[in-house]
Amino acid sequence: MKAVIPAAGYGTRLLPATKSQPKEMLPVVDKPAIQYVIEEAVASGINDILVITGRGKRAIEDHFDRSFELESSLKDSEKHDYFEQIRSIADLADIHYIRQKELNGLGHAIYTAKKYVGSEPFVILLGDIIVNNGNPCTKSLIDLFNSNKAPVVGVERVSMEKVDRYGIVDAKKINETTYKIKGLIEKPSPNESPSNLAIFGRYVLTPDIFDCIEHTTPGKNGEIQLTDALNLYLKKTDLYAYEVSGDRYDIGSKIDWLKANIEIALKREDLAEELRQYLALLNLEPKVINDKVTVKEQK
Ligand code: UTP
Repeated sequence: MKAVIPAAGYGTRLLPATKSQPKEMLPVVDKPAIQYVIEEAVASGINDILVITGRGKRAIEDHFDRSFELESSLKDSEKHDYFEQIRSIADLADIHYIRQKELNGLGHAIYTAKKYVGSEPFVILLGDIIVNNGNPCTKSLIDLFNSNKAPVVGVERVSMEKVDRYGIVDAKKINETTYKIKGLIEKPSPNESPSNLAIFGRYVLTPDIFDCIEHTTPGKNGEIQLTDALNLYLKKTDLYAYEVSGDRYDIGSKIDWLKANIEIALKREDLAEELRQYLALLNLEPKVINDKVTVKEQK
């Protein structure tokens, strides 16, 4: 399958950090956020990827390109580990780029991938969402797509007060992780929300979605929402939701970006001990249980 990674958005919530650099390039520990996303696609068996960029996003292309000067300098100074790391980034996958010329929403961004996608099912991974639960999340969605022969949307449980930040699904439970979707609603208020299952940024869809995007009327701020297009899509196809467990971070939100840095560093052998000592100084006690990090305040 091919993957499409939308990464053209302004990143307004992280201003001023995103004034002249893409939010997808903000480091989480020592890697830009979008590298985690591309590594997840690759670990899910995908090596043909389209990144949707826009003005001010050139740093993304540079990051996944060769850097001959840097490579030769690292080689000359015998910094072999860094050399290998830098060299391997350019070989991660076959990455293509297209520009979304006007930022008219996520649905509009996905529509720019129509020609690239062609006639086969494809995967969407939002470029600012990191899922860090040990298994490549996209792989689980692809497996479900293959067994049900129907499109899949990744969802997670959020607290009821936060449903108004997400696209929410109305769905019937099939088994522990799978739901059949009956309807979708973008950013409902808690009292009108049909559930607390939130769409968070991973999808396996078929090219029929493009026709639905074409017929979707722009919503708030003139943006074409993917969730609205999915409601039209639902009239043509069965649609499933896969509930993902584990840590998920929206790098476009300040608090999630901070949490991602701390929690991912706590899972890193080279950083965990020192960071743990520092958190203890702040009177915080981090715990890693079943690969999930919680930071609890000490009494
Ligand atoms: P967000 O709504 O989180 O991104 O879109 P944003 O618009 O950059 O965020 P704020 O609200 O201004 O802070 C989710 C994903 O869709 C992409 C974004 O880059 C992000 O990866 N996106 C969004 C596009 O590619 N084009 C768009 O027109 C909108």
